[in-house]
Amino acid sequence: MPASSVITDPILAVSHLGVRLGGRQVLRDISFTLGAGSVSALIGENGAGKTTLLRSILGIQTWQEGSIEVLGKPAHTQLSRVGYVPQKIAFDPYVPLRTRDLVALGRMPRHWWQRPDGDAVNQALAAVQAESFAEQRVGMLSGGQQQRAVIAHALARRPRLLLLDEPLANLDFASASRLVRLLASLAQEQGISVLVTAHDMNPLLPVLDHLVYLVDGRAAAGSVQEVVRSEVLNPLYGYPVEILQHRGRLLVLPEDPQQGLEIPCHAHEHLNHDD
Ligand SMILES: Nc1ncnc2c1ncn2[C@@H]1O[C@H](COP(=O)(O)OP(=O)(O)OP(=O)(O)O)[C@@H](O)[C@H]1O
Ligand SMILES: [Mg+2]
Repeated sequence: MPASSVITDPILAVSHLGVRLGGRQVLRDISFTLGAGSVSALIGENGAGKTTLLRSILGIQTWQEGSIEVLGKPAHTQLSRVGYVPQKIAFDPYVPLRTRDLVALGRMPRHWWQRPDGDAVNQALAAVQAESFAEQRVGMLSGGQQQRAVIAHALARRPRLLLLDEPLANLDFASASRLVRLLASLAQEQGISVLVTAHDMNPLLPVLDHLVYLVDGRAAAGSVQEVVRSEVLNPLYGYPVEILQHRGRLLVLPEDPQQGLEIPCHAHEHLNHDD
């Protein structure tokens, strides 16, 4: 596993993390650090452990080994500095909650006598360009608009670390590109450390500073160039992988000796995709 580039004063530091769930080791010996103002991807196939890792950072999931620090302190003491956009978002169309209300819920006053922080709510709405649907019910918005509303909710607390679980999964190519540019601008302009989970690293490549590549609960971390190399990925998969570059895209094709040289279906999709 390559050593991650040295980051002084990391926003997130995960060290030798191990998580067991239902008697199974789901994550093992995961270590990486993320700096301020960076975009990082947590890449892995279904069941690799991406959501478990985010839930561990958030303290929703208990872990057995290692440590997780946010801003140099145990993560569970710093949750007010962390924004989270979960993998599954669904709002009933009839819930009487406007986009603005959802965002304001991310910035509730600590005490009943305090005024709500309208500036933080307006800034979060502006950051994701949600002003035009701020007064509409969230349940009536399109999937992409709902996603921006939830990101604004997470931004309203002015987080230093923003975790997004598969935010690109249901977006078309243009919407995914827009969201990727938005995340990069949040990192650059607000100094937020953004961590995005995905199956496919390609839509994120133009803005990616750091990659955590997860295979069956084990990880390699570093820059894309450091991680996406057969010397790093072969030991992680436990068998040879082929790495192809096609029109600026990276394809990792595991050649599982148990299954011959079959190319996974999703690789065909990438190869045929014209952009
Ligand atoms: N509560 C649980 N008890 C036992 N096993 C669990 C539990 N939650 C998740 N797992 C297992 O942990 C592994 C990792 O799950 P996780 O949801 O973190 O994967 P993921 O990478 O987010 O997958 P996906 O891309 O499908 O969202 C899977 O094998 C899953 O079955
Ligand atoms: Mg998941």
